[in-house]
Amino acid sequence: MTEFDAQVPLDDSNTFGLPGRARSYWRVDDVDTLVAAAADGRLRAPRLVLGGGSNIVLRGDVDALVLHVALKGRALVEEAADDVRVAAAGGENWHDFVRWTLDMGWPGLENLSLIPGTVGAAPVQNIGAYGLELCERFDHLDAVDLDTGAKVRFDASACAFGYRDSVFKRAAAGRYLITRVVFRLPRVWQPVQGYADVRRWLDEHGVGAPTAHQLSDAIIAIRRAKLPDPAVIGNAGSFFKNPVVSAEQAGALLAVHPEAPHYPQADGRIKLAAGWLIDQCGWKGRALGPVACHDRQALVLVNRGGATGADVERIAERIAQDVKTRFSVDLEPEPLFI
Ligand code: EPU
Repeated sequence: MTEFDAQVPLDDSNTFGLPGRARSYWRVDDVDTLVAAAADGRLRAPRLVLGGGSNIVLRGDVDALVLHVALKGRALVEEAADDVRVAAAGGENWHDFVRWTLDMGWPGLENLSLIPGTVGAAPVQNIGAYGLELCERFDHLDAVDLDTGAKVRFDASACAFGYRDSVFKRAAAGRYLITRVVFRLPRVWQPVQGYADVRRWLDEHGVGAPTAHQLSDAIIAIRRAKLPDPAVIGNAGSFFKNPVVSAEQAGALLAVHPEAPHYPQADGRIKLAAGWLIDQCGWKGRALGPVACHDRQALVLVNRGGATGADVERIAERIAQDVKTRFSVDLEPEPLFI
């Protein structure tokens, strides 16, 4: 029977580099063994499913069984007339998977290049960047119910995708371990290049009609210029979601700040840029103890060394308070607090 390890440090398993130990820990690298352990009732809550650890704030020791997903494998599922379906196991590195699809001649995921984390974690928060969200290329996923060991398939509607959101952050939170994700990539490829930063980069580099590889390279360059590399300085990507407010509230803000970035949504509400709001409050590049607001993108908090979860919470609360006081807008953190 599988033995779990005790008191395992997680400092290197979260990209923020925050300290904490798992009460017990299991590296999951085989679906059948996972199913058997769940069916035996050995994986009951409290438990935490950990992927690349790129979207969590570790508050300290985790008094739970940590299931670290290390399932590997990627494959072509089906080549149909209109699209290609490709699959990857939950523990595959997201960016490596994206580059592999491009190398195999299956474009469609290039705008999501260089996003840290694993394939299994990607649907949980419906990762998105530069004009594309995962849900637009999603076919289905397979998961194991950790309470029963049952294998469950989720199609897109069962995932209830939203902006940085899915059922796995809500009703199904903590219940399932995502073992495999299948993507549907259209045969007729059209570059998604409407995002201002992308257009600017392509113009500057004289690329008129980019290939998928060129678009991926552009996204990689843009991300490297703005976003801190977690391998160099601890961070969890965007720390807050971009807030979506009523048209009235956005109108009031734009009357005073016509330059404020804003994106009309299908439901009539307006998405504001949290990074801009935070920047306006003077936080960009500012630190509070060992945690700082990144100097090139105010939406990202970085660990300058030796930070704890409490340090991250402290600066996040101060930033949110300042944005609320100045703009009457509520900011919601994007990573999960553990
Ligand atoms: N801005 C500022 N100051 C800042 C940061 C941003 O004025 O310090 C302005 C920018 O000039 C721009 C606007 O705010 O006009 C938006 O900034 P940016 O294009 O950098 O994107 P974002 O809205 O801050 C979102 C995602 C990122 C994703 C980028 C590109 C969220 C929470 N974040 O950031 O996702 O890479 O768009 O698509 O939606 C992540 O989720 O971890 C992440 C990095």
